Amino acid sequence: MVIRGTLIHTPVFGEVDIIEDAAVIVDNNGQILSVERPGSTSYQDILNTARSNGDLTELRQSQFLLPGLVDLHIHAPQWPQLGKALHLPLYDWLQQYTFPMEAKYADLAYARQSYESLVENLLANGTTTATYYGTIHLEATCLLAEICMDKGQRALVGKVAMDNPAECPDFYRDQSTTVALDDTRALIEYIRNLAGNAAGRVLPAVTPRFIPGCSDEMLTGLGDIASEYDCHVQTHCSESDWEHDYVIARHGVNDTQSLDNFKLLTSKTVLAHSNLINDEDMATIKQRKSGIAHCPLSNIYFSNAVFPVRKALDAGLNIGLGTDIAGGPSPSILHNCRTAVNSSRMLEEGANPGVPAKDRGTPGSRINCLEAFWMATVGGAETLGLQVGQFTPGYHFDAIVIDTASADSNLDVRRDLDSDHDVLQKIVYNAERQNITNVWVQGRLVKG
Ligand code: GUN
Ligand code: FE
Repeated sequence: MVIRGTLIHTPVFGEVDIIEDAAVIVDNNGQILSVERPGSTSYQDILNTARSNGDLTELRQSQFLLPGLVDLHIHAPQWPQLGKALHLPLYDWLQQYTFPMEAKYADLAYARQSYESLVENLLANGTTTATYYGTIHLEATCLLAEICMDKGQRALVGKVAMDNPAECPDFYRDQSTTVALDDTRALIEYIRNLAGNAAGRVLPAVTPRFIPGCSDEMLTGLGDIASEYDCHVQTHCSESDWEHDYVIARHGVNDTQSLDNFKLLTSKTVLAHSNLINDEDMATIKQRKSGIAHCPLSNIYFSNAVFPVRKALDAGLNIGLGTDIAGGPSPSILHNCRTAVNSSRMLEEGANPGVPAKDRGTPGSRINCLEAFWMATVGGAETLGLQVGQFTPGYHFDAIVIDTASADSNLDVRRDLDSDHDVLQKIVYNAERQNITNVWVQGRLVKG
């Protein structure tokens, strides 16, 4: 397959690369073979051959080819809760709304309709790689993996582990630590042996919900499973004052150190939020080569602080973006790009008008749209250790088309006025679902 059109990506942090009228050659396994520029010796031959084989997709002038978006943090069962109850603090939101919601996934028919809707909607929003927490239920979480497989999404899927009776209600808690550990193993085996998954497009993740929800025995067992199976790990880290202080009270250290003590900080670990980490935590996360899912929209509601994303990027940490559905009220990673920029600007300037300007903010905290888009693609991919997020030979062809001429579009790109940087900036600020006309994962067209 050959896709011909103008492509935009950010393989180098902070730089935009636009190739006008590129020809991207994709092999039968969905890998990028090469990216040809007009004027290369083989360019015209490649187009002619693909055209005569009926194997050529030509984009219009109004269309741009971008890497698919990577979402590092999604609570799949919270999809029906999107946009609800965000007036509550984290603890109350979990107890009053979220745990009752997630308990419904004991019912597989309920799980199926909800998970199908979620995966379809995320693909429609351009999320080609999704990192999912399921529920405590093994069967429903296996079903989520199967739905990702069938609908063509690249995904990581974890069975949520939460066995601590002091923090988890009777109606939504693992039956026992042993059962939860056995079910975690069973999910890993199930996903690795799933029909059609030989290439590992769907991957398992060990998923302690967060330290408050787990007994020490559970955390120990999950750390062992993660190393035994060389498996991804996902959990929440220093998200809010309540959660962060709870861990200090129970373990006498910050989340980062505690997770490290349980062998849960690996090069395959994704730490959601990490808003309240200190310099020492950052150094530990870097040393372990773990990554952070920055969830800027959700953080507005639950984190009690702004994640210092500039500082973490400058420290060389792996960072991508997460929607944190339904802590964040939008399924769109582009919305989270915007919010990442906006919240970094608010951290830089400060928020309280009653404080003199010179003391109000944290200078040097801003990021720009290019850097946000890098996190949404390359940063997320590197955090997961996946060959996606850029158009480079050997990488998987996970891509989206942004059409500036879609009906009801807010997006107006003018190549006579707009620099390369302007074009990407306009897309990040104003592209919406209706501008995303095509989506491919591993070379398979899943929208359009
Ligand atoms: N911490 C533990 N569980 C959750 C959850 O479902 N959402 C968020 N935002 N934080 C959590
Ligand atoms: Fe979360």
